[in-house]
Amino acid sequence: MTRSAHDSEKGVALSNIGSYEERLENFDWGIAREVLSWSDDELLNIGAICSDRICARGHADKVALIWEGFGDRKSTYTFRDLKVRSNGFAQFLVDQGVAPGDRVCLFMDKIPSLYFSFLGVLKMGGIAQPLFCAFGDESLEVRLASAGTKAILTTQKHVKKVRKIMERLPELTHVIVVQGNPEKLKDGEVFFDVESAPPVEEFDVYRSGPETPSVLHYTSGTTGQPKGAQHVHGSIWGQVLTTSWVLDLRDDDVYWCTADPGWVTGTSYGIIGPWALGITQCVLDSGFTSSRWYQFIQDNRVTVWYSAPTAIRSLMRDGEEVARGYDLSSLRHLASVGEPLNAEAVVWSEKTYGLPFLDTFWQTETGSIMISNYPGMTIRPGSMGKPFPGITAAVLDLKTHEPIEEPGNVGLIAFRPGWPSMFREYRNQPDVYRGKFAGAPDGAAPDELRANPDLWYVSGDRSSIDADGYYWFVGRDDDVINTGGHLVGPFEIESALVEHEAIAEAAAIGKPDKVNMEVVKAFVTLNPGYEASGDLELNVMNFIRKKLSPLAMPQEIEYMDKLPKTRSGKILRRYLRAIEWGEEVGDLSTLEDD
Ligand code: WT7
Repeated sequence: MTRSAHDSEKGVALSNIGSYEERLENFDWGIAREVLSWSDDELLNIGAICSDRICARGHADKVALIWEGFGDRKSTYTFRDLKVRSNGFAQFLVDQGVAPGDRVCLFMDKIPSLYFSFLGVLKMGGIAQPLFCAFGDESLEVRLASAGTKAILTTQKHVKKVRKIMERLPELTHVIVVQGNPEKLKDGEVFFDVESAPPVEEFDVYRSGPETPSVLHYTSGTTGQPKGAQHVHGSIWGQVLTTSWVLDLRDDDVYWCTADPGWVTGTSYGIIGPWALGITQCVLDSGFTSSRWYQFIQDNRVTVWYSAPTAIRSLMRDGEEVARGYDLSSLRHLASVGEPLNAEAVVWSEKTYGLPFLDTFWQTETGSIMISNYPGMTIRPGSMGKPFPGITAAVLDLKTHEPIEEPGNVGLIAFRPGWPSMFREYRNQPDVYRGKFAGAPDGAAPDELRANPDLWYVSGDRSSIDADGYYWFVGRDDDVINTGGHLVGPFEIESALVEHEAIAEAAAIGKPDKVNMEVVKAFVTLNPGYEASGDLELNVMNFIRKKLSPLAMPQEIEYMDKLPKTRSGKILRRYLRAIEWGEEVGDLSTLEDD
């Protein structure tokens, strides 16, 4: 028997959202408070809501985290464990002199301490700045410098990268190693292993409010260095309600979000939304293979699975047969985010798992799901679905920025500002923040912009809307490269490329890839005295992998005599991209205006 999440009769009866149309009417974000049974005298602190509050409501013994690592390492933690270990981190940071409002970077693999420390930082009023631990020293440095980060929590495995950049980061005064051999520490570094430290039963949680800064995520743009999207504790209302209505989580679910908390999916839906609701989560901290993933679902009886198109395409590539070798009957709901989910993948998952992956669309900046398919709603494979209730969305004309009324026409996806989990600023970049709003008055401050319901927050993506209100993703409106659901900025890659002794000029674009949607391709010109060769190509690839990350590493390097440029000397990435994608290059002058 196939269990179909979009079978309307069953879906309506079974899902948290009920009928989408009904939810649109009389929508109020206050419903999120009802979902949490919230009373207004409670303390709005994400760290405490995800741990202490669940314990106080009688669920201290419920499993919060099922963790598996490489090999057969496995451990299980209850909500009581979450509470006392996050308290442990919070108290330790306070004792070290870390103060509310300080940025505390979390730079480690998906080990249990990443989850405990995330909640601990929030509990003591700090700003949690999770960074993907595959970042090289340069990617790390740029983000720590921008955030003025005070403390970094890392492991022996990754601390070397911190040592390399320490002296250029005067504000970074605390390096805390949370796993490894304490004897390998260098002067000034501190060791703290929460697993062996005594549990801290009580911690005086910071009295945060809805506008207190909480999580800081860095995201890449077309120009300039990455931008720090600042979120606040009040984001929880958006995360809780979308977790309930889109991911459809219920008390007895075993939920698996495959994202790393270095990216927003891994915090909004890999920590905050589910744990605020007291849901059991699984984390797999080991490399991807189809059989390892299926084994994980089978062993832990995973019921709800939130993943990404690249992973789904990898599972597809390995074939239905591999899936047939495992008992996946526990699954009841699947969702996807990060890149376009092709119709073929939706149809394949329905055939293979008896369930379609439901596409969801959102961004680091939006903090929570904005456009989505819902359990109970008829899905159209290939479509991102419809705006979340409470979200006013449109596609705007590319030039006039007026909403397009005509179905099927392509425009810019935009949202009316003011939803709870919207980012509050780009750290230290008010002009860049203002640039995200169509019609923004000159000089308007971030809080005026996001409180102005006449403006549009413009996402930077293009879509059309069909006659029934379904959104169909078309592509990005800028040069940012989306590789396997991770955004990488061409500017960052180009800046790093020209630091290589052989390279004079560089352009980075995304080239099509069957599994990752896009991978990085670089076009370079060489300095005098250097010859194009396969060895040099490998050398350059490694150089970028180490400095930035494996994601940013070009999969191909093309040597050129000169790069195509505009009259003002800007490199024409779009021209290179059009050629790479086999698209009409068209009139060069249209490519020139930005
Ligand atoms: C960009 C945001 C928050 C999710 C993780 C990525 C692309 C996201 C979809 C989708 C097509 C998508 C967009 C968006 N994207 N979801 N369902 N279909 N594209 O967060 O790193 O801020 O990336 O990812 O281009 O703007 P992010």
